[in-house]
Amino acid sequence: MLVGGLLCALAVATWWAVAGALGGRWGDDHYRKLWERVHPEEVKKPLTPMTLEKPVITEYRYHDHNNLSTKNRSNATDNKKKDVKKGFLVHSPEVMKELCARIVDDEMRFDCHPQNGASEEECVKRGCCWKATDNPYAPYCFYPPQYETYQFINSTENKHGMTVYYSRSCDTGYPDQFNVARIDFNYLSNDILQIKISDAEHKRFEPPYPEVPTVYSSISEVKYRVNVDSSAVGFKVIRNADNVTIWDAQNTGGFILADKFLQLSAVLPTNYTYGIGEKQASFLNDMNWKTHTLFNNDQPPGENIHLYGSHPFYLGLETNGNSHGVLLLNSNAMDIALQPTPAITYRAIGGILNFFIFLGPSPEDVIAQYMEIIGKPFMPPYWALGFHLCKYNYGSLNVTRHVWQKNRDAGIPFDVQWNDLDYMSKGNDFTYDTEAFAGLPEFVKTVHEAGMHYVILIDPGVSASENPGEYPPFDLGLEMNVFVKNSTDMPFVGKVWNRVSTVWPDFTHPNASEYWKELMSDFHRKVNYDGAWIDMNEPSNFLSGSMYGECSPENLPYKPQTVSEEGLKHKTMCMDAKHFAGSHFDVHNMYAISEAVATHAALVEIRGKRPLTISRGSSPGMGHYAGHWSGDVFSQWHDLKASIPQLLSFSLFGIPLMGSDICGFIGDTTPELCKRWMQLGAFYPFSRNHNSDTSKPQDPVSLGPIVVEASKRALRMRYRLLPYYYTLFWRAHTDATTVARPLFFEFPNDKRVYNIDTQFLIGEHIMISAILDEGANTTNAFYPGPNPWYDLNTGKQLALNSWKAINDEEMVAVKGGAILPLQDPPAKGPVTTSNTRSLPIQLLLVPDTAGVARGELYWDDGDSLNSYEEEKYSHIIFKLKENELTSFIQWWGYGVPAVDTIKVLVQNLIKTVTVNNVSSSFTYDKPTKVLKIDVNINLDKPFTVKWTNKVTQKI
Ligand code: NOJ
Repeated sequence: MLVGGLLCALAVATWWAVAGALGGRWGDDHYRKLWERVHPEEVKKPLTPMTLEKPVITEYRYHDHNNLSTKNRSNATDNKKKDVKKGFLVHSPEVMKELCARIVDDEMRFDCHPQNGASEEECVKRGCCWKATDNPYAPYCFYPPQYETYQFINSTENKHGMTVYYSRSCDTGYPDQFNVARIDFNYLSNDILQIKISDAEHKRFEPPYPEVPTVYSSISEVKYRVNVDSSAVGFKVIRNADNVTIWDAQNTGGFILADKFLQLSAVLPTNYTYGIGEKQASFLNDMNWKTHTLFNNDQPPGENIHLYGSHPFYLGLETNGNSHGVLLLNSNAMDIALQPTPAITYRAIGGILNFFIFLGPSPEDVIAQYMEIIGKPFMPPYWALGFHLCKYNYGSLNVTRHVWQKNRDAGIPFDVQWNDLDYMSKGNDFTYDTEAFAGLPEFVKTVHEAGMHYVILIDPGVSASENPGEYPPFDLGLEMNVFVKNSTDMPFVGKVWNRVSTVWPDFTHPNASEYWKELMSDFHRKVNYDGAWIDMNEPSNFLSGSMYGECSPENLPYKPQTVSEEGLKHKTMCMDAKHFAGSHFDVHNMYAISEAVATHAALVEIRGKRPLTISRGSSPGMGHYAGHWSGDVFSQWHDLKASIPQLLSFSLFGIPLMGSDICGFIGDTTPELCKRWMQLGAFYPFSRNHNSDTSKPQDPVSLGPIVVEASKRALRMRYRLLPYYYTLFWRAHTDATTVARPLFFEFPNDKRVYNIDTQFLIGEHIMISAILDEGANTTNAFYPGPNPWYDLNTGKQLALNSWKAINDEEMVAVKGGAILPLQDPPAKGPVTTSNTRSLPIQLLLVPDTAGVARGELYWDDGDSLNSYEEEKYSHIIFKLKENELTSFIQWWGYGVPAVDTIKVLVQNLIKTVTVNNVSSSFTYDKPTKVLKIDVNINLDKPFTVKWTNKVTQKI
């Protein structure tokens, strides 16, 4: 063991004692006075040399792979000896003064007193610098450089990583610090580095979700190096290719590693960071001293408040176009503070600091690397990409049926009818109101017969107030012992929708999946639902804590910034509630994902088809099991706009099936807002119109002809694009690429697009630019070059590289270089994915400036489990070059509708066209410059289509 427990400043005190004995001029020292005031007893103590009893590891096994130079290593030993001799590890008052004076820029300050009520006295107690500043955000109390909270003991390295041990050298003001810290730098792959900072002496909580793989790809050319300076606490991560320091965690306040406060700061190579959520904010993070709390919270979205999900992941876009990403895998409540240095500070209140650094270099690479760790997105059924309709409080089956029927009749492309909790009896899961919803099973049958699907709401909370023997979810839960327990091992009781008393399944319990499957399948036998909407799973509780008795005090040395005065238990369980996997304190943020795992698995078993689960709460890895919607947004223009950064953030978080409640959830929408929101929301990957019980109906038909027309038009375009969307979802599922993506993903070198979050891309080729302002008939859109962009409706070329107003007919643009597989929905009658999927396919060719284009189509039956894994799919690549379109069959395992039309946006007049070397008729529309070839091509064999221009080109 080490001799620990010294305050950072104790070393200062001992130095003063020595200096005093030597007659040094310290008597009037500002720091000493403060010190004496704070710790008079310590000043009188004799100097106690700190000793290291024994190093934990002394062996270096693979010298050839060592990133620590021999020099550094021997320095380490020298320093250690020196320090031991000196007997203190922090700085003298003079040195402190000098060090504090070195921090001249406000933005270089790392907050040493993030709690409210900082004072000079408290600050100095922590061994920190105190200096007022005019900057309203910069801290007065900040860490000095070389804030040596830990001292290097030793390191070992082999080709898979490096382990470094540190001993605690001072007390930072946080109780129960780790005496020996261990950092494992695990080289997981050439592009993924794990940095795991843990307590070497005690096992601490680590989240069971996501299940991080333990086998990684082999290491050949590691793209990064780690720099550990043994004379100082901290490390740097450097990208080898360009020597950019992606993370500099040296001289940033050391590591604070205490039981309920784990802090680490790093200087970043860029001001452009994205991610960290769930939050409502611009997509590009505000680095101006912005702190984000992460703690799953039932909270209607607003700025500066933590929302339903917790995603401690960001993507950093460096100005040379390279990018990197960082995940902190920790399920405890935390704050992540951003400052303009640029720098980041993590403050978690439990667990360990388990970081993963993704080297990119492209933004898509970063996300794919991130998904390697947290799991790739699930493959949604095709129908889930159709339009969904819901409302809280249709109140009866009659109203549900009426809304369903009238929107179908109006020709609104429409695939999935939902019911909110009003279908339940007394708000109880796995029941339905047999009066107001009498005939629900028959209605679901009708929905299915129409080629449509039906989704129900399921809340995690189970009523604890029914009579014994009358409510199986409660009785069975007790029998299977699956409920979350309170500190006395009784079921933890709160209150949710039944408004009497509620218990919650502990989805980490070994019996929970079976329990949940049993309930879901029993109900499925009554009502043949197709998907599950798992709501309120932050978990939300109408009480803050338990119905019976107080929660144990939370005793937090640091309360994350936007957590309520009530504490973490605000609108959720007591932190001392017990789950199989740990205390609620540790597992709170994982409640939703654990429910999604069980729900997804149950749906698979019950239906034997591809499941759809949509979850409100989320955390890393959720996308492997479920999609997400952004919760209870307001029916306001502000929230319409905010839905785009929300969507894009969830693309980064690996949850591509995402959208917001179209037309807004809280309050009454207006026809104008709803029209604009339908136009935008038609292109969300998850497209659902839903609103609250007290709001006016807002399905398109209820809002009148203007909204109906706009919705039909936008949704018909969506349905037309679904083969393209579906192929993107397949790519996301297999290769972890994104579906909705920010412009910079495709244009990482174009700074003009770094902060665009009013437009977004679907895949590489489609750009959505909707009107987002009240009263506006146009929106300003930016189309980055060099390749041209065209309005998908008309083929008209759009202005390149400048902001230009476009109208709502031009809101979907396609980029030069694309070959899009499209499917026009039926011209008349109700439109669903099932009646669209069987119709012929069209190919739209949009050459880039070199006359080249590329596209692909993934196709399967849209509904079976593991179609791809079991090779029951077809995948065709299309390439255009020098006026010749060729198809390449990558796999043929499932029939694809034939292609009946090929359209090409070409600038020249066309002379001849051949299809598979046979001359073919065609039309060329001069005004729109569209070549149209009617064909009947089966895709199971490769084909070629060629054309020649009228104006012979010079060779
Ligand atoms: C909260 C959800 O966010 C909302 O969408 C739903 O309508 C209500 N719960 C009622 O179930």
